[in-house]
Amino acid sequence: MSDIYFDHSATTPLDSKVLDAMLPYLQDCFGNPSSRYRLGREARQGMEKARRNIAELIGAEPGEIVFTSGGTEANNMSILGTAYGGGKKGRHIITSSVEHRAVLEPCRYLEGNGFEISFLPVDDNGMVDPEQVLQAIRSDTILISIMHGNNEIGTIQPVEEIGLIAKEKGIPFHCDAVQSVGRISVDVNRINCDLLSISAHKFYGPKGVGCVYHRKDAKLLPLIRGGGQENGLRGGTQNLPAIAGMGKAAELAGDSLNSTQKEVSVLRDRIIEGISDEIPEAVLNGHRFKRLPGNVSFSFNNLDGAPLVAMMDEKGIAASNGSACHSDIPSPSHVLKAMGYSDKLAQSTVRLTVGRGNNNGEVDYLLAVFPDIIDSLRDVPPRQADVECSCQNRPSPLM
Ligand SMILES: Cc1ncc(COP(=O)(O)O)c(C=O)c1O
Repeated sequence: MSDIYFDHSATTPLDSKVLDAMLPYLQDCFGNPSSRYRLGREARQGMEKARRNIAELIGAEPGEIVFTSGGTEANNMSILGTAYGGGKKGRHIITSSVEHRAVLEPCRYLEGNGFEISFLPVDDNGMVDPEQVLQAIRSDTILISIMHGNNEIGTIQPVEEIGLIAKEKGIPFHCDAVQSVGRISVDVNRINCDLLSISAHKFYGPKGVGCVYHRKDAKLLPLIRGGGQENGLRGGTQNLPAIAGMGKAAELAGDSLNSTQKEVSVLRDRIIEGISDEIPEAVLNGHRFKRLPGNVSFSFNNLDGAPLVAMMDEKGIAASNGSACHSDIPSPSHVLKAMGYSDKLAQSTVRLTVGRGNNNGEVDYLLAVFPDIIDSLRDVPPRQADVECSCQNRPSPLM
C-alpha cells in the first residue's frame, strides 16, 4: 500500500500545474531576469507575473515582494535586517516562546550580541495575549515578531490585534506566516504587518523559494549583498524556475482557498473527533477552533512519540512526532513546554497534518489502525533504536 501522507506542515507535494509553470524556465526561457535582451526580458516577465500572483494572494503590491530562498531566510532577513538596519531607536525585540526556530535562532543570536529579547509566554492553547504584547513594549522596542499559524499545534495567533497595537505604537511588526499563506486568508493590511514571511513548499510549490512581504517604509539592512537584485534587499540572480512555480502555486491556492480550507478542515475534525472518542485520555494540543485547517496534534500519557510515529510509518502513514531533535537526543518540543506540559507529556505527541490530496478513505484507515497502535505502545519503554531514531544530527522534524 502506498503511503498516506499526513505531514503537510512539513512540506507539500508539488502540484503538477506548478511543475508545468516551472519547466519553461528550466529549458528554453533560461535568461537572466536582469539581462536587457529578449531572453532576459521574457525571464523578467515571468518573474514579475509570479510577484503579482503572490502579492494578490496576501493583499500586497507587487513591489512589496522580495524573493528569498524560503521561510528561514525570510525570517532572518526580517529580524536581523530590522535589528541592524532599523536605525538607532533601540535594541529591544518582542517575540513569543512558541515561534519556529527560524525566528527564535536569529533572536537568540541578537541576544548574544547586545540586544534584549522578550520571549512572551502563551496560554495553555499556545496563544499569545495581545495585552502582554502591549505591556512588553518599551521606548527602545524596535520590532515585534509574532507568528500567524503555529507549525506544531496549529493555533492561530491574534495577529490582527497585535498588528494594530504595533501600528499605534509605531513599531514594525513582522509575522511569520509560513504555515498560513495558501491555507487560510492572509491579508497584510488587515494584519497591519510591515514584514511577513512566506514559503512556497507549504502550499504545493517548490522547496527552496519564498519571500518577504516588505512594506515600503520598513527599514531593512540587506543580509545578502551583491548585484542589487530585489531592490537592493537581496543580492543574487533570482531562482526563476522556483519563483515561477511559487507564483503558480499562489494563483492556484488563491483560486481554491475557501473550498480547500473547508474540505481539509472537515477531514481534520473527523480525525480529532475519532481519536478523542476512541482514546479518551488523548489531549488535543492547541486551540480547538482557532487552528490551521489541516492541523491535528495530540499527546498521550504513558507512551513515547518516537515509536508511535515509527509504528505509523510501518502501517504506511507518514506523520511527525512532538520531539524536536536538536542533537542526538530528542528533546521535548519548546512549544508544548511553553504551554506548561511536562517533558513526558510533551514527548508523547503526534502531529498529523492534512492537505488537499487526502480523502475520507485515508481518514477511515487511520482511525481504524490508530487505537491498536496506541494500545500496543502504552507503558512500553522507548526502544533505544527509536530514541536514536533517524533524528541523529538531523533538523527538527516539526517544520
Ligand atoms: C512557521 C515556520 N516558519 C518558518 C519555516 C521555515 O521555512 P523554510 O522551510 O521555507 O525555510 C517553517 C518551516 O517549516 C515554519 O513552519
